[in-house]
Amino acid sequence: MKAVKITEGIHCLPVNLESYQLFEGMWPMPNGISINSYVVQGDKTALIDLIEDVNGKPADFEAELQSISLAPKDIDYLIINHMEPDHTSWLPIFHRKNPDVQIYLTAKAAPLLKTFGGIEENVHVISDGESLDLGQGKILTFYETPNIHWPETMMTFEQSSGTLFSCDAFGSYGTLNDVYFDDQLSTTQHDFFINEALRYYANIVASFSTFVTKGINRLADLDVKVIAPSHGIIWRENPRAIIDSYSRFASYLNGPAEPEVTVIWSSMYGNTEKLVNNIVQGVRKEGLPVHVHRVPEEHVGVILASAWKSSGLILGMPTYEYEMFPPMAWVIDMFRRKKVWNKKVLRFGSAGWSGGAQRELTALTEKLKWDFIDPIEWKGAPTETELQLALQQGQALAQQVKEFCAR
Ligand SMILES: Cc1cc2nc3c(=O)[nH]c(=O)nc-3n(C[C@H](O)[C@H](O)[C@H](O)COP(=O)(O)O)c2cc1C
Ligand SMILES: [Fe+2]
Ligand SMILES: [Fe+2]
Repeated sequence: MKAVKITEGIHCLPVNLESYQLFEGMWPMPNGISINSYVVQGDKTALIDLIEDVNGKPADFEAELQSISLAPKDIDYLIINHMEPDHTSWLPIFHRKNPDVQIYLTAKAAPLLKTFGGIEENVHVISDGESLDLGQGKILTFYETPNIHWPETMMTFEQSSGTLFSCDAFGSYGTLNDVYFDDQLSTTQHDFFINEALRYYANIVASFSTFVTKGINRLADLDVKVIAPSHGIIWRENPRAIIDSYSRFASYLNGPAEPEVTVIWSSMYGNTEKLVNNIVQGVRKEGLPVHVHRVPEEHVGVILASAWKSSGLILGMPTYEYEMFPPMAWVIDMFRRKKVWNKKVLRFGSAGWSGGAQRELTALTEKLKWDFIDPIEWKGAPTETELQLALQQGQALAQQVKEFCAR
């Protein structure tokens, strides 16, 4: 690939990680992801963020640099918005090629540069709001935006073009192939990247939602014309589309999210499964969209995105060794870690003798601010009573969701 011109003197260098890799070692990426670095050239040349040292990707990155007649040694300033290794694991090698580069980062990033990269020389710790004049009208200003996504994160703003190099914020899954800017997207592709942004958000950023809201408010006074994130599409026609999407995703933390319901169910021998259709029908009676996932078949990374966006959750699980069916416990634990809070919730499930799933669920979700309606529990195979209850309670949950969202 070649470097992609954003405007005179500013280029994007996107490198694609393909779908066989798990992001952060755990999240499936059916559509891959791009890792975007940026070059800003005045009299001096700055490189903003780097690339992961994986699967020969640094060679792609160097080829892109070369396409604008640059080599690592030509970089005067390396701006590190974020030390996570998806952007920095190639840094030690880059640094050997250019030991004189001046590195700009936050005070919290400097010790990470030492421990991850072994680098302490030519390091400049920025102060919040500080600017770096590259000449020819190109001025970079640095803003600390802690915890989007690590504590040391900052964003870089180029004033003359109004380009915000936002790092992980406003990022999405999905590789970049031929199309790099929002104005080149069809409606379907646009929806695709917003969905990829939601899944990326739910997997990577969700638990830092309070900081996302703070960061967005903090940057409200900047005249942002281009959002140039470190993952995914560049937003120059309508940067508000991705800013507003991220604002909305962050607001789901305290609820309500969208008037939708996510059903997550599991079953060993089909008894719990028998209620799924009726529950879904019950929700549909209220006209709400409903997303159905079975565990362990569906990956928790996909379930997270669906649950994050839904105001209602319906959890189907049998009892297993006096507790929840284990694959479901893994999902609930991930919800706790990722702060899937403030939901309307219904649980249903079969047990053989004394049960126990509900007890464990109640204990595990104590701090999630979930509002439960009466569960549907029974022994062995469901009878007509439970099948009817499924319709009723599915509908009741949907009604609660509608009321919640109407507030
Ligand atoms: C390995 C295993 C452990 C179980 N542990 C419990 C238990 O601790 N308490 C209980 O009431 N039922 C227990 N059961 C019974 C199941 O909850 C019961 O068979 C239920 O109907 C399964 O629902 P399903 O058909 O949706 O998988 C266990 C079943 C299995 C296979
Ligand atoms: Fe990150
Ligand atoms: Fe990243």
